[in-house]
Amino acid sequence: MGRLDGKIAIITGAARGQGAEEARLFVAEGATVVLTDVLDEDGERTAAGLDRAEYLHLDVRSEPGWQQIVDGTVARHGRVDILVNNAAIDLDRRFEATSLEEFERVVSINQTGVFLGMRTVASAMIAGGHGGSIINISSVAGLEAVRGRAAYGATKWAVRGMTKVAALEWGKRGIRVNSVHPGLIETPMTA
Ligand SMILES: NC(=O)c1ccc[n+]([C@@H]2O[C@H](COP(=O)([O-])OP(=O)(O)OC[C@H]3O[C@@H](n4cnc5c(N)ncnc54)[C@H](O)[C@@H]3O)[C@@H](O)[C@H]2O)c1
Repeated sequence: MGRLDGKIAIITGAARGQGAEEARLFVAEGATVVLTDVLDEDGERTAAGLDRAEYLHLDVRSEPGWQQIVDGTVARHGRVDILVNNAAIDLDRRFEATSLEEFERVVSINQTGVFLGMRTVASAMIAGGHGGSIINISSVAGLEAVRGRAAYGATKWAVRGMTKVAALEWGKRGIRVNSVHPGLIETPMTA
């Protein structure tokens, strides 16, 4: 018996790194996992190595993309119980060297992507009349200042802030919303 028996989870950025490990752990605990990413080859390979897992392409910046993933998951599996907003990109850049284009790219993936995911999945949980759990992967850079991380840090603080607002608003619907703040972890992002 796993702690997640029968639960349906969507994980973003799950092709590799921490997202892939989260998918393995969730499956080991009994969940069915929808892995999503933009790295389709890696994503297909990761999902193929797991029971009760499928891979689907999702660029987290896409509003219609999110709707398709969530509608498709509900159609195939009946519900969504868990969302892990894990996808993100890093940018190690001195503040004054950060271009507007770079800043906006980091925000669009790390912050807007998390906003879209939370909103789309929580709407499905509310419509389904059941609760759920949303887990947003922030960083220590969302708790304290980290040199070279003006854009990245801004998004990770934003994720923490959105998490708290969502937890306030959706708590009464039985939806728990938490952020996780890892320190440095060896993954392709830090390699
Ligand atoms: N590695 C660390 O030291 C560290 C520390 C603190 C927090 N984090 C956070 O942990 C999470 C996972 O990072 P990781 O270390 O596994 O890095 P990673 O680069 O291995 O994984 C990130 C995944 O996100 C995907 N991704 C990037 N842009 C995307 C987009 N537009 N749409 C969908 N997917 C996209 C990538 O393809 C990749 O598979 C991130 O949120 C990261 O900010 C990492």
